[in-house]
Amino acid sequence: MTAGSPDPHIDILFTEEEIAARVSALAREIVADLPRDFLVVVILKGSFVFAADLIRALEKVGASAQVGFITLSSYGAGTASGGAVTLTHDLVESVAGRGVLIVDDVLESGRTLAFACETLRRRGAASVRTCLLLDKPDRRAVPIEADYVGFRIGGEFVVGYGLDLAHRYRGLPYIGILRGSE
Ligand code: IMP
Ligand code: MG
Repeated sequence: MTAGSPDPHIDILFTEEEIAARVSALAREIVADLPRDFLVVVILKGSFVFAADLIRALEKVGASAQVGFITLSSYGAGTASGGAVTLTHDLVESVAGRGVLIVDDVLESGRTLAFACETLRRRGAASVRTCLLLDKPDRRAVPIEADYVGFRIGGEFVVGYGLDLAHRYRGLPYIGILRGSE
């Protein structure tokens, strides 16, 4: 077992403390650029833990976020992106004329983020910014970059802090690499 890790299958990549420090720094970065009226659009499910911490960090630096949720899916039960992105649960809020901050967990091929940006722009959002917890730049298939990134990592499959493998591990307070997936 890795020191500090309660799960023998996982090597810790970012600790709870490292994540908390990075989320606070991101909030300070983001708040300087945000329009007064903005909607945080959380892409479920993977980013719900990150988004919960981020909106509280934003509040601490003076930005009160309104929050909406959208569920997009590109993965099956495995660790390889399937390609086509489907919208399985839509936003309730209208984005027309509003500043939007999309929050997602991992930017990998870029298909999910490109789909989300395009969808919200088509609906008339005044501005669309993007905040990603993790960026895997080596795995990009679509030319898209995030405005704000928590951590850049390699191509390894990671779990914890909201991220799952076949619906497991979301509740881990740290981000870790599954042994044997590197
Ligand atoms: P993309 O569409 O290929 O950019 O994939 C992004 C989506 O794949 C993210 O929103 C995640 O839900 C999922 N994903 C990508 N890499 C990982 C990972 O390492 N762990 C868990 N989910 C991942
Ligand atoms: Mg996701």
